[in-house]
Amino acid sequence: MDALDFLRNDHERIRFLFQSVSPSAPGVPLKIDAATFKSRCTELHAHFEAHIKAEEEVIYPFFGKFDECQTLITQCYDEHRQARTVMEQLQNNPIPGDAQIRLIEKARSLFDHHIRSEEDELFVQVRKIVARKEMEDLGRLVEDSFKKHLENMRREFGKKAA
Ligand SMILES: [Fe+2]
Ligand SMILES: [Fe+2]
Repeated sequence: MDALDFLRNDHERIRFLFQSVSPSAPGVPLKIDAATFKSRCTELHAHFEAHIKAEEEVIYPFFGKFDECQTLITQCYDEHRQARTVMEQLQNNPIPGDAQIRLIEKARSLFDHHIRSEEDELFVQVRKIVARKEMEDLGRLVEDSFKKHLENMRREFGKKAA
């Protein structure tokens, strides 16, 4: 699969995982028990971390070779850092409650902002530069990297939870 299509699909999966730990509307209590909340937060964190690790390992170094992309890539690294900090705070104490709901909202809004930077700016830019065939090859690399990191993250977070 084309690298950009893979990442776009994965953004949707992460959005869905955010929804799975968010109230249906502001102020409405979460209708899931503590154990479910914790395991969904862990899966969200593992998936999120695998996604950004795969981008930093495969995608950003490749796109960073083009002058037109460098400012955007620097901005994307910075957005990863900000979202990662909030996700770690959440992972350190995944007890359902107002404080955690606020952290999820914060991480979700940072993530939404970030995927707009990628999809509306970075991806549009690289589409003009990188050939379709090359984007397909890159797709296989980013998918492999993502799967490897997802497995590692699930194992690492699973150990912490045990
Ligand atoms: Fe992304
Ligand atoms: Fe990203």
